[in-house]
Amino acid sequence: MISLVDLTAQYHSIKEEIDSAVLSTLESGHFILGPQVVKFEESIAAYLGVNHAIGLASGTDALVLALRALNIGTGDEVIIPAYTFFATAGTVMSVGAQPVFVDVDPQSYQIDVSKIRSAITPKTKAIIPVHLYGHPAEMDPILEIARENHLKVIEDNAQGLGAEYLGRKTGSFGDIACLSFFPTKNLGAFGDAGMVVTNDPALAERMRMLRTHGWKKKYYSEEVGYNSRLDALQAAILQAKFPHLDSWNEKRRELAHRYNEKLGSSGIVIPVEREWGKHVPLVYCPLGKT
Ligand SMILES: Cc1ncc(COP(=O)(O)O)c(C=O)c1O
Repeated sequence: MISLVDLTAQYHSIKEEIDSAVLSTLESGHFILGPQVVKFEESIAAYLGVNHAIGLASGTDALVLALRALNIGTGDEVIIPAYTFFATAGTVMSVGAQPVFVDVDPQSYQIDVSKIRSAITPKTKAIIPVHLYGHPAEMDPILEIARENHLKVIEDNAQGLGAEYLGRKTGSFGDIACLSFFPTKNLGAFGDAGMVVTNDPALAERMRMLRTHGWKKKYYSEEVGYNSRLDALQAAILQAKFPHLDSWNEKRRELAHRYNEKLGSSGIVIPVEREWGKHVPLVYCPLGKT
């Protein structure tokens, strides 16, 4: 049987770098947050061109913390694409809000921006575009609609690390963006891991508090928070893998082009890369046969 993803192949290609990162973390005695996490947070912030990055336990937690930091809860509505991973909708519901589904463009799989306005009601608080399969959502119209209607934008960039919209990295557009380092992602940990990024210092501070029980000062909870800290081993592994991210994404692009060439004439509707976007195909997902 050929497995869909062989995660050990990537490990073996950079085994020495990973092993040395793991061993030095074991020797360091820092296992939760600490210098390894700070270093990785700085790497991602610089890569995306944002001011604050906060390492968390998962991409799902990243969405929860983003929603909580923006005070989204009971009675609120959040616009999300109708086609996404469960967590985009599940986290909205977990904070007590209602997801409102907007259909997607069937070729790019991204939220159909022409259908967002009609989904807005007085209860709408935010839009969550999802850069699904590593293709960017169409950010300019989304940001314009959000501005006009006083809505927040949370990018779900769990699948899009390295993707670009008009030459700028996804994850750098929204009030907050959420990343996942689930093992099969473009940059994958050896376990669960996630991150939120923002340019807003107040939102960054709130999410830092929320990831550790709502603490501003140790043991003093300002509000009810979570235990959602990125651990040092995952950060060290991710930092070791990080310099390879762009070349791995290029390889994904190259393979997708090869599939497109071979499948394009077969009647199968192949995935598109819109002219305004750079696709980093996390998943190669043809639409099916015409
Ligand atoms: C679009 C999307 N959002 C959110 C998540 C949640 O991330 P995690 O699995 O790290 O909790 C995922 C990952 O599986 C995802 O693909």
